[in-house]
Amino acid sequence: MFHSRPVRSSSATSSAGITMGSDPYTHHQDRKTHMMRKAFTCMFLFLLGYAACLFVGPWWENRNMLESSGDPKSQSQSQTPPVVLPSIARDEDFYRFPSKCALPLPESSILSTVFKLFDNKSPYANFPPEHLRPYLLHNEIHGWGSTNPVFEKVIRLANPRIIIEVGTFLGNSALHMANVTRRLGLENTIILCMDDFRGWPGFAGYNQGMFRSVIDINGDVILMQQFMQNVVDAGEEERIIPMPFATGAGLDKLCLTGIYADLIEVDAGHSFHSAWEDINRAWKLLKPGGVMFGHDYFNGSEEYGVRRAVDKFAKEHNLRVEPNGEHWIFFPNT
Ligand SMILES: C[S@@+](CC[C@H](N)C(=O)[O-])C[C@H]1O[C@@H](n2cnc3c(N)ncnc32)[C@H](O)[C@@H]1O
Ligand SMILES: *[C@@H]1O[C@H](CO)[C@@H](O)[C@H](O)[C@H]1NC(C)=O
Ligand SMILES: *[C@@H]1O[C@H](CO)[C@@H](O)[C@H](O)[C@H]1NC(C)=O
Repeated sequence: MFHSRPVRSSSATSSAGITMGSDPYTHHQDRKTHMMRKAFTCMFLFLLGYAACLFVGPWWENRNMLESSGDPKSQSQSQTPPVVLPSIARDEDFYRFPSKCALPLPESSILSTVFKLFDNKSPYANFPPEHLRPYLLHNEIHGWGSTNPVFEKVIRLANPRIIIEVGTFLGNSALHMANVTRRLGLENTIILCMDDFRGWPGFAGYNQGMFRSVIDINGDVILMQQFMQNVVDAGEEERIIPMPFATGAGLDKLCLTGIYADLIEVDAGHSFHSAWEDINRAWKLLKPGGVMFGHDYFNGSEEYGVRRAVDKFAKEHNLRVEPNGEHWIFFPNT
């Protein structure tokens, strides 16, 4: 112990940077501390590793689960629920025509309500305008089976006070229905004539044949004006009212306004899709006990599009289709 000091001190002095001393006693002491340090370091590293495992393990596991399941719900437990946007139409979308129709308007306010679409006056006010007068012919009426006995049959069935015609053209069928209702004592029956009055692409401007009256002025056919002239010539402008709209928007407007009919004729577009939409939208406007009918049940255009739409609708609404000449009529399936 005595002589150990100088050694130790010498060792201390000499150990400036190299040795920790060679004295057996101090060496023993150092060894012990060294071992303890080592043990502590090991234990520390072990605990550190353990803690790391506690945190990293679940995260890793979770991550692998997400990658393999691909379930978007498990991605994050954020407070706001994820917004699910519809991307592809569902089957029931093809059967939904969603406007909720308004309560029925009283009959006495139907005309004034319709006139709101025309600056609050009859579209016949000051008709025809000067600039069109030279172009309009008189009683220029053409149609397709437009005076067929089926019209009298359905008018007798429905006893209509309001008629909606979907597809009017020059007004042949509308004027015939005006005649029949008048003859049957229904002279106040209103006939709303829905048509975009565009006919179909390229039908006008021939200045000859069946549609010679309907000329094209600066790219706009004067079909609606010639129809109106025909109505004025027949003196029926109090009750035959043009509804110059595409059928989708126009029928929807009637639904939202609460205008319903006892009799509805469907004779606009002849493709499956246009007939299907027209029938579905118009059906919502039929009063209880009302009658719906249409033209071209046997028309081959668009692969019998009208007939396919009529039959499909009848099947889904438990109706019976009665073919009548070129026309079809819906009856309840009893
Ligand atoms: C066959 S004609 C109607 C004939 C009339 N019912 C008759 O018997 O005298 C068909 C009419 O439907 C109209 N039309 C066709 N598709 C239409 C649509 N999507 N919207 C509005 N009118 C349409 C055309 O402008 C055309 O005047
Ligand atoms: C309606 O009746 C009148 C008078 O009888 C007749 O001149 C006219 O041609 C009829 N209109 C139609 C479209 O049948
Ligand atoms: C279908 O009806 C339209 C309009 O009513 C007519 O022009 C066409 O000739 C008809 N086509 C057939 C194949 O009957």
